[in-house]
Formats: sequence, C-alpha cells, structure tokens
Amino acid sequence: MSLDSQQRIADLSEQLHQHIYRYFVLNAPTISDAEYDRLFQELRELETQYPDFTLPDSPTQRVGSDLAADFPKVPHPAPILSLANAFDEGDLRAWEERNLRLLPAGAQLAYVLQPKLDGLSIVITYEEGVLTRAATRGNGELGDDVTANVKTIPSVPLRIPVDSDLCSAPERLVVRGEVLFHKDSFEALNKEQTAQGLPLYVNPRNTASGSLKQKDSRETAKRELTAYIYNVVDSRGIELTSEWQTLQWLKDLGFNMIADAQVFDHLDELIETLPRWLERRNELAYEIDGMVLKVDNLAQARELGVVGKDPRGAVAYKFPAEEAITQLIDVTINVGRTGKVTPTAQLVPVFIGGVTVSNASLHNFDQIAALDIRFGDHVVIKRSGDVIPYVIGPVASARDGGESTILPPDECPFCATRLIQPAGAVDWFCPNPTCPERVMRTLEFFVSRGAMDIEGMGPQTIDALIKEGLIQDEADIFYLTAEPLLQLEGFAEKKVENLLASISTAKSRPFSQVLASMGIDGVGSTVASLITDNFESMGRLLETAQTISAAENKFTEVARPLIAPVENRDAEIDKIVHRLMHPNLELVPRYLDADDLASRLGRLLKPLSLFPDEMKRIEICLAELIAAARPLHALEGLGPILAQNIVVWFADAHHQKVLSKMFDAGVNMRAEEKTVAGSSLEGQTFVLTGTMSVPRDDIKALVEANGGKVTGSVSKKTSYVVAGDSPGSKVDKALKNNVSVISEDDLRALIAD
Ligand code: IVH
Repeated sequence: MSLDSQQRIADLSEQLHQHIYRYFVLNAPTISDAEYDRLFQELRELETQYPDFTLPDSPTQRVGSDLAADFPKVPHPAPILSLANAFDEGDLRAWEERNLRLLPAGAQLAYVLQPKLDGLSIVITYEEGVLTRAATRGNGELGDDVTANVKTIPSVPLRIPVDSDLCSAPERLVVRGEVLFHKDSFEALNKEQTAQGLPLYVNPRNTASGSLKQKDSRETAKRELTAYIYNVVDSRGIELTSEWQTLQWLKDLGFNMIADAQVFDHLDELIETLPRWLERRNELAYEIDGMVLKVDNLAQARELGVVGKDPRGAVAYKFPAEEAITQLIDVTINVGRTGKVTPTAQLVPVFIGGVTVSNASLHNFDQIAALDIRFGDHVVIKRSGDVIPYVIGPVASARDGGESTILPPDECPFCATRLIQPAGAVDWFCPNPTCPERVMRTLEFFVSRGAMDIEGMGPQTIDALIKEGLIQDEADIFYLTAEPLLQLEGFAEKKVENLLASISTAKSRPFSQVLASMGIDGVGSTVASLITDNFESMGRLLETAQTISAAENKFTEVARPLIAPVENRDAEIDKIVHRLMHPNLELVPRYLDADDLASRLGRLLKPLSLFPDEMKRIEICLAELIAAARPLHALEGLGPILAQNIVVWFADAHHQKVLSKMFDAGVNMRAEEKTVAGSSLEGQTFVLTGTMSVPRDDIKALVEANGGKVTGSVSKKTSYVVAGDSPGSKVDKALKNNVSVISEDDLRALIAD
C-alpha cells in the first residue's frame, strides 16, 4: 500500500512538473486548470499522509512556507559580473575595435543579441539536476539566499532536465537570470490593489524585487512572478563552446528563455536591427531597458577577460531613458466630450529621451489618491513610445513637509455643475451634456476624420458657429444653410458650398461610423461595429437601452424599500446593498447564464433575511431585467461597464433629442444589408496584423463577406493570424498559442478554394 503511494507520489510529481513547464514556459498546456488542480490536490494529500515520500523537488513546495524568515548571505560560486554600458552605435563599434585589438590578428567576432530585461538578477544552483539554492546578485560576491521564494516561481524548474528525452542533467549547474513581472501580471496586481482600496505599486521592477524579498514565501507565491534565464555562471560535466549553443542547451534543459535572441556574424548587421528593437520595446510582454550583446565564441570571450566587474565579451546597449524625476507644480483639469475629468500634472520641465516634458497625465483622481501624489511632490515621469507622458508615482523620501493633498474639484471648472463619480468608475464626470467645454469637445470629435469626417469644419469653424448661435449640438450641423454661413468672417461662396457638400456626404456614413461618432464612452469603431452587427438600427438600439433602463429602475425601486429596514449593517450587507443598487453592473453579468436564478439569488440575499414574497418580487424583477439586458449584455466582447455606459447614454433626454434631430435630417441610422459573397470562411476567426496590399478594413470586409469573423486579439479561439508587412507582436502571440500565421495571399486562396 505504502509502496504504491510512494510510486504514485513520484508519478504525480513528475506529471505536475511537465504540466507546469508546458503551461508557464511553453505556453502550451495539455490539461485543463481543473485537472491540474485535481492532480495537485491528490499529491498534496498523499504527501500529508506519507511525509517521508515527499520529494525534495516536489511541485507542492512552490506554494511557499514561512520557514525562511530572513535571508542568510551566501557566497556565489564565481563573481556575478555586471555589464559595461553603450549608448550609441559609436560606443558599440569602439567596443568591437578594442576587443579585436586584444585578440590574435584576423580574429572574427560573431554576436548574440538579446533584450536586456529590467528585473532583478538571480543566481540559481542545481546539483545533480535538483534546484538547491537561489540567491540575489547582492554585491556580486555574496547574495541573499532566496531559495524558498524562487521556488515559488512556476517558470523556474525545480529539477532539470524537465524533459529527460532531450538531454541529461549536468553534475552541477549555476545559471543566472532575471526575475520580473510581465506587464499584464503587474497591471492585474494593481487592479487587485485598487479593488481592495490598497496603494498601487509604482513599477514592475521594484515590485518584483519586493516580492522576491518577502519574509514569508507564501506571499511571494501569490505574486505572478516570472523568471528568464540568460547565462551560465558555472557548469561541471559539460563543455560549452558558444553562447548560442548554450542558450539552446538551457532551453532543452527546460529553462524559460528570452524569445527572439538573435545571432549575427557581423556587428553591422546587428546594429541595423537595433532601431527595430526600440520600436518593438513596447510590444514585448516585459519591460526592457536595452539590449545585451555577447561575443558568441566562448573561448574568445574568456580570452577577452574582465575589466573591474565587467566582462569585455559582453556589453549593454542602453535605450534612451524613459523615466525622469521632476517636481509637480500644479494640477490642471480637462473635461472631455464624455464629461470625463482628467487631471494633468504641470511640471518643472524635464528632459526625457530627447524631449522636454512639462506636463504629464495623472490618469484620474482615484489613482492620485492611491499613489498618494501631492502638490509639490517630486514625481517619477515616464515617457514611452507614443504614449502620452504620465506620472508613475511620488518620490516620498524627497518630501520636505510643504506638500499638500490633491483632491478632485467639487464642480466642473467650465460650467460649475457638480461633478459625479458613477458606480464602479475611477473617473469623475461633468454630467451636464450642454457644458460648453463638453459641447466643444463633442463637436470637434464628431466632425473629425476618425468619426463623421466632415471636411472643412475645423475647431475654429466650430467655435465661430457656436458663437453665432448656429449650432448647439451635433445634429444642428445637418440643418446649416448657406445664408447665415455666408455672413461669417472668411466664408466665401465656394467655401460654404464645399462645407455643405461635405456635410451632406456625411449623412450617408455607415451606421457603425455614425454610432462611433456619438462619443459614447468606450464605443469606438470596433465596439460600434460589434453593436451594429447585432442591432439593425439606431431605433432598435435606443429601444433596447430604454427597456433595460426602465427594468433597472423598476428593480432598484422594488429592492430599495426592502433594504432600508435592514439593521446591523456590516461589510457583507453593504456589499449586497451595493449589488442591489447597481444591478446592471453587479447582478446582470453574474446571473446572465444562470439556470438556477432563484437559488443563487437566495444565497446572495440570505443575510438580509427577507420574507419569501419579497424574495420572489426581487427575483421576478431581476429575471425581467436580465431578459431586457440580454441582447446587449450577451454580446461577446462587450463588458458590463461598457454595456452600462450605452444604457446610460441612450437614457439621457439630451442624447435622445440629438439622435432624433439627426434622424429627421436624414443621417443614416440603419445597418446595410450584409452582402454575402460566400461561406468558405464560416466559423473561422481571423486576426489581422501588419500592412496589407489594401486597407485593413477592406480585408475585414472580405473575411466577413465570406462568413468569417475578425477580432482584435489572438486567443485560443483564433483560427488564423493574417500577417502583412511589419507585423506586430500578434505574430509572436500566435506562435505561442499554436495559431497558424498566414499571408494575405494565403487568405485569398482560402476564399477561392
Ligand atoms: S548577461 C556577465 N543578459 O543586466 C554578464 N544580463 O546591466 C551577464 N540583464 O546584472 C549578464 N537582461 O542582471 C545578461 N539578457 C541579459 C540580461 C542581463 C538583463 C541584467 C543583469 C545584469 C545587468 C547589467
């Protein structure tokens, strides 16, 4: 019996190692999460029963323990070197020339190029294939022993090789790598902090460092850390001759490797690719601060030796800094077309990556509070790619006590209406649809190229038209006539004629374009198309939104008096009350597909101790609301917040008036009949990336006309990624998910078949 258990423990450990590797390193799991949990649970139970059979590298060890309360210092087996920096092409060429002078005449240098990960350096030791120690870099000679914490990182193999068919374990292996947060994991972590009302983490790098130095490794285990391995510090029992071959071998052993390492025979070719890496920087899953160049031939690298703490055989090519510290002087307020209030930091000008920055986004007031940013603070500013510079967070240690709290204003600075913060939103809004600032922004957006595209109607014209009282809202544009326009300064006959012609053309824009031009928060062209694919006219959409709105009002009216008398409010009751008062956001998405609404609702409301007839009334109203909401809420790709934005927008009397005026003026509000050319792509989902021979929208129309679907991001459901010239990271994602990547010609061939 116990022998069987010992065998089963070994089997389960082995299987789980494989599944963890397939999931976290290869991105290609072969079992469901539930199945994984079941195997894990079985192993844990057996190990509890037979602790002696627990293997030292058991996957159950990854959940952490609080045994390692502090970190003893441990010596590294060899000095953990750092890298000299290069900042431009000239530095790189000088580096090569210096190296060539040190090597025998006629030597040729080939290079491996890899992204330089912006994380925390770690050194991991394997003895006979088993992870025995992990340490931070420390001072290069001594590091902190963080073995228990590193063991919780799923992409770090506890035993190598993970797949013994590929190679065998070296007697002893010491590798070096970087621990970091993928950008999406870091965002998720901060979302969680927000949800719990806790302060936000400032950047992935420092947070990775903090996570790895947790006293209780169960805390580390909760963070979604990743580790990549890029270097061998020491190996016994194996001869390595090139860097490139080393990377391949590490990969075979089962380490998580940086994808896209490249090898070059000449420095020239390598240098040519650097601008491309700078562009790709923001598409990568993790943050990088440059590229690492390493001499490929390890004998040459050894011969080149070390200066100080830097090996001559490798160099870090640093990208221009993206962060800088400066002082926040003031906060100005912008009000957008949706009424959203955005705070902007006014800064002491600072030079970041070649540009002087004097203002930066502060996102929203919740974020200001969460990060505890104050007037007068020194703040870290990030300027990355095309993104508007933004404030990452304050440098709290630089405070002198003269700083003061930043609060949202009570009133809209443009129309003095009281600002509101809708349920579930982080932003504040000016709710007044006739706020002059909102009207201006709405009209500017409405006529812009991405929206109704009315040529000849720039911001100055809009301003003049508003001032003359010729327009007050979007719909008025379609009622403009020649005579009053001719009175305006600078408006000659030809100009008026052209403007009226472009207004007239705009009336027949496709329904989805009209919808996307209305400035509904979150409804851009993709969401608008999704909606107009499912609602044939603005009238139907309006009707659905109004039905939902009425059903929601009815629901809250029924629920409110039932909650009012509840005494002894605690956090649990408050949560229930919140859900009942915001049913579209909180209840509809939860119960949309519930076939046991009564019992689930019963469980939720139990702490309220309602009478059966009260319960029944709530249940009936909720069922009605769900039925009303289904046509909108069940659209795939439309989250509850967006659905609610749409409902609220259409329920607004001002918006209804604008729509009805536009309708009367003859603006198109009906989806065209879909022309179906064929059904050869029926049931298939495509993602488009890169430049095609024709605009991407045309390719999208072609796919749809043949029964296929086009979505924005790659997932397991994607059938093909169609890649044009200079495709983006979607191709990488496709390869990771085993999704076929095809060319535009391949797509056309699929249709022709
Ligand atoms: S190789 C002997 N490769 O950058 C050189 N380092 O500024 C071994 N780093 O301390 C390092 N990404 O922590 C190497 N792909 C990469 C790297 C990388 C990030 C870090 C490493 C090092 C620092 C030097």
